[in-house]
Amino acid sequence: MPVPIIIDCDPGHDDAIALMLAAGDPAVELLAITTVAGNQTVEKTTLNARRICTVAGITGVPIAAGCARPLVQPLLVADDVHGTSGMDGPQFPEPTVDAVPEHAVDLMHRILTEHPEPVTLVPTAPLTNIALLLTRYPDCAARIREIVLMGGSTKGGNRTPAAEFNVYVDPEAADVVFRSGVPVTMCGLNVTHQALATPGVLARLESLDTELARICVQLMTYFAATYRRLWGFASPPLHDPVAVARVIDPAIVQCVDASVAVELRGQYTRGATVVDMHQYLDRPVNARVALALDSERFWDRVITAIDVLGSRRA
Ligand code: BDR
Ligand code: CA
Repeated sequence: MPVPIIIDCDPGHDDAIALMLAAGDPAVELLAITTVAGNQTVEKTTLNARRICTVAGITGVPIAAGCARPLVQPLLVADDVHGTSGMDGPQFPEPTVDAVPEHAVDLMHRILTEHPEPVTLVPTAPLTNIALLLTRYPDCAARIREIVLMGGSTKGGNRTPAAEFNVYVDPEAADVVFRSGVPVTMCGLNVTHQALATPGVLARLESLDTELARICVQLMTYFAATYRRLWGFASPPLHDPVAVARVIDPAIVQCVDASVAVELRGQYTRGATVVDMHQYLDRPVNARVALALDSERFWDRVITAIDVLGSRRA
């Protein structure tokens, strides 16, 4: 039986590939896509989710827009990484897939309440919607099988020396999630930096010879230029699909149990995830923390999913 999931995202080049992996892999059932402000404003991330669903032929999956700003602080977008649209690179056609009028948090709550089995949440963006869900509807925590998120890091950040973008944008929300008591798996930069879209990966995608694969290559080519310019990477890391892959096949992403705290006050470290793998702080374990990626199996699943969706469209 496929694992029922909801992806809460801010597309975003890597969110886009995460959506395709979730929609094209038979091990998961994508029940809904919710959007939040992060890489760009929520208007833009919602438009981008509709664009991806249109070009990937993802229909029948509700898309609902959520929070327009973090819980406490003003929004910081990542236009330096993802461009003014939030998903610069390809030319997208006018989307034919619409968003539903329901708020993301209400849609998540309704699905959690109505679905016969507990549902896995896969946030690949700032955790504003998820924190609001857990605060507004505390009873729904029991209906969440687990939260498998992309965010944080065991060692250093990408927005400050200490903080990863998704946690840095809304640290209070991340704090709510890590303290919620719901099982949390953290796929942070330390593991997503192992998911590199190398020239070999791009060549495999090109050889699929579908319109969708060409769009994916354009997305990754734009992302590659960003990562080269900002961080000197030879190939860009596709962060967000790693969280989806962990749900699809847990053996792809190896984890250890640890306590994770979100730094809210540090003068230079606000938004850092403090991962205590050696119990220095004597805090209870509250997360599984991803450490290692089987990149071969990861890319096989991603490329197969893009092939499945792209061939359906052809
Ligand atoms: C995360 O930040 C965003 O820019 C990406 O989409 C990913 O979710 C990586 O730090
Ligand atoms: Ca993202």
